[in-house]
Amino acid sequence: MDSLLRLEAVQASYGQSRILFDISLTIGTGEMVGLLGRNGMGKTTTVRAITGQLATTGGDIVFKGRSVRNLPSHLLGRMGMGLVPEGRRIFPNLTVRENLVAAAANRSGRSEPWTLDRVLALFPRLSERLGNWGSQLSGGEQQMLAVGRALMINPDLLILDEATEGLAPIVRDVIWNALRQLKSEGLAILVIDRNLRQMMDVGDRHHIIEKGRTVWSGSSAAFSSEPTLKGRFLSV
Ligand SMILES: Nc1ncnc2c1ncn2[C@@H]1O[C@H](COP(=O)(O)OP(=O)(O)OP(=O)(O)O)[C@@H](O)[C@H]1O
Ligand SMILES: [Mg+2]
Repeated sequence: MDSLLRLEAVQASYGQSRILFDISLTIGTGEMVGLLGRNGMGKTTTVRAITGQLATTGGDIVFKGRSVRNLPSHLLGRMGMGLVPEGRRIFPNLTVRENLVAAAANRSGRSEPWTLDRVLALFPRLSERLGNWGSQLSGGEQQMLAVGRALMINPDLLILDEATEGLAPIVRDVIWNALRQLKSEGLAILVIDRNLRQMMDVGDRHHIIEKGRTVWSGSSAAFSSEPTLKGRFLSV
């Protein structure tokens, strides 16, 4: 199968300190893939390498059949990578509506592009907040907005770094239900999240990262059939 995104032995450093040694992973069209690993193992650094925010020093990153290694973020966005970054990075001085509209791009002229109305249908809560500043939103509302903003570029791949970190359980469910719906509509999703139950329930396949290396890759069913994985690579 041709992958939508493929990382081959990716390496990356912050200054002198090497963080990624050997990251390999794949995401197929319409797949939801989880990126797992303990704190500080390199998940966010991997996302930064994929999205052009950190230069790689080795290996290759192939998106839609083209090597995109070290392309700038805005070009990757134009190619169809939508990012929900760690910390959300909502524009505080723009309203909810402006945050969404500023991101809009019907890149491929698709027949049913994401619109403000479609995002509001996915997250009705945002309808009540359209005129509020980004700075006035709760953490959950910010995350809904961050997902909506990423969808407004009409991505082929949605990447979420800490999909539900710091959110109340009820808001986590809102986000996970949205991800479930997006996946059912055929969107490919790379997700980082601490909730293993949802990850295994909604996700198709997963990659575990340990100290900058991919140490395990497999399906949700394979993960569940190897109970030692959790203790070896995920619990603190
Ligand atoms: N800007 C930076 N400069 C130097 N080192 C960094 C920087 N950002 C992260 N690191 C280091 O890189 C390693 C990997 O960090 P990274 O943020 O990718 O981990 P993570 O798996 O996302 O962890 P978490 O689960 O806590 O989000 C850590 O040792 C971290 O201290
Ligand atoms: Mg992180």
